[in-house]
Amino acid sequence: MSVRRIGVVTAGGDAPGMNAAIRSVVRSAIHNGLEVIGFERGYVGLINDQARPLKARSVSGIINLGGTILKTARCEEMRTPEGIEKAAETLKKHRIDGLIAIGGFTGASKLHRASGVPVIGIPATIDNDVNGTDTTIGFDTAVNTALSAIDKIRDTATSHERIFVVEVMGRKRGFLALEVGLAGGAEIILLPEVEFDMERVCRKVRSAREAGKTSEIIVMAEGAGDSHEVVRQIAEETGLQVRLTVLGYIQRGGIPTARSRILASQFGWEAVKLLLSGEKRRMVGIQKGMICSVDLDYSWSVRKEINLEKYKLAGILSE
Ligand code: F6P
Repeated sequence: MSVRRIGVVTAGGDAPGMNAAIRSVVRSAIHNGLEVIGFERGYVGLINDQARPLKARSVSGIINLGGTILKTARCEEMRTPEGIEKAAETLKKHRIDGLIAIGGFTGASKLHRASGVPVIGIPATIDNDVNGTDTTIGFDTAVNTALSAIDKIRDTATSHERIFVVEVMGRKRGFLALEVGLAGGAEIILLPEVEFDMERVCRKVRSAREAGKTSEIIVMAEGAGDSHEVVRQIAEETGLQVRLTVLGYIQRGGIPTARSRILASQFGWEAVKLLLSGEKRRMVGIQKGMICSVDLDYSWSVRKEINLEKYKLAGILSE
């Protein structure tokens, strides 16, 4: 079957660069003679038929904007057979020959199975926890956002000779924390992937002080445990002043970096190309600098490995 009209949706947590990806999908599709329908609010828009045609001018002036002009949502109904069925009907009603899902792959995969409509996933999340791609849209921006916060925190940590625990996002994984920790020169990085005990953390703080350090930054992934508890225990065991900063949702917003925009632009083009070449269920990615694609299910069914060499390096360089 030839592809004439495609759909695009942004789903799951937003990530800076999603708009650049929408722009790329729309203009790559139009360049190849296709029509594009945008579905709003993630799978909520597919279930409730909230759709609008997207033309080349609909995506003007958005490459530099964080968030997503299509809006997004975490859609509980998409976990039910009824929800998936309704979304499949919407695709049929709009005569969609292929769907590009920017985020929200479990929903996309189920939708493909229910409707037979080919789906291509574009990985977009600040967590970078998607297997089959070295990096995701938004990750670089979030790393830089968190890093600029940590650089500021270091100023006050140094002045007051305090310990700061900085909690970063990442859901159950530590990709963001590791990158930010290494780039920010953190004395300690706490990741869900590396077991730690508080006795050792406190010992490390004490020996840092003995080695002449007067302040420390501890970068902690949200998935590594309770940061309030970490602060409490370090303060109690060391007698030093410890403060907590939870960076939170600022990591999800802001102007996408050049790297996030370029990745989004390349992914959008590749996703359209895959649909045109007859692929049915793939995810675009980047591996060792080359744009590639993998089976969509592989992206979330197989756990992505974290680079423990980077973790060790961060430890050595912060001595
Ligand atoms: O997946 C991105 C992310 O920001 C995670 O880092 C975080 O755990 C989660 O989303 C927050 O989810 P919600 O937007 O549903 O509060």
